Amino acid sequence: MTAQALVALEQRGHVAWLTLQRPESRNALSLATLGELRAHLAKLAADASVWAVAFTGAGDKAFCAGADLKERRGFDAQMVSRFVREIRAAMDDVAALPQPTVAVMNGAAFGGGCELALACDLRVLDESAAIGLTETSLAIIPGAGGCARLPRLVGAARAKELILLARRLDAATALQIGLVHELAPAGRAVERGGALLAELLKNGPLALRAAKAAIDGGLDLSLAGALEHEAVCYQRTVPTADRLEALAAFAEKRPPRFEGR
Ligand code: COA
Repeated sequence: MTAQALVALEQRGHVAWLTLQRPESRNALSLATLGELRAHLAKLAADASVWAVAFTGAGDKAFCAGADLKERRGFDAQMVSRFVREIRAAMDDVAALPQPTVAVMNGAAFGGGCELALACDLRVLDESAAIGLTETSLAIIPGAGGCARLPRLVGAARAKELILLARRLDAATALQIGLVHELAPAGRAVERGGALLAELLKNGPLALRAAKAAIDGGLDLSLAGALEHEAVCYQRTVPTADRLEALAAFAEKRPPRFEGR
């Protein structure tokens, strides 16, 4: 009998859905789970047929409860360091995906679960779920990008408040401070996430990649450097068939049919 995957990969049309599949542990990230996740990410990054990637969790309780704290108890200090390197690398892999990514949070997102969402481009949260970087309550700190990505998203003052106080934010507050883009009605995050992905993919898939690269690559540059980088990214869209298709569709007053080339 084959063991059930810890991370399921399903491609629906041009969207790849990655589902964390440990609902009995609230989809906590074990070392083996991170290994499966990274193997999927490596394939998806090189797959031109995948135009967007969505992350969600099995069950209705949690998107992801962060690092597997039961596994952690059996780790010596060296293993803990290895785990932290691995989870940081996994979230860096998520952030580095060329396609736009959406965290479809069907339930609670704490610690590494929140960091997974922070590594995505868009975030949808079930309106009944809570979210936060709660690591300091466990006498550690966010180590998979949370200390770096949260302040860039919500500002340093707010990030310090959330991390130092190990806040568990309700969904309405998460929306209000810009930590998530949208709330889904309770129990309907996947449906809402699917609608958002459909909206996203009305736009040119290569343009989505180029826009993501222009924004991400420009963030740490001077304005002049970021503008130059934007010009380089724009150039990638110029020779595409999709760009010509969009112009033809505009002239013919019809929706464009993009092919990702
Ligand atoms: N690692 C390993 N197991 C975890 C886990 C984690 N991060 N989070 C939850 N679980 C396990 C629980 O130990 C429990 O296992 P048990 O049935 O063997 O006792 C099971 O998942 C269900 O957890 P429970 O707390 O009863 O579920 P809930 O639906 O009431 O609450 C959470 C879900 C996510 C709100 C809650 O489990 C939680 O706060 N977890 C810790 C989150 C955290 O601090 N993460 C930071 C990690 S750095």
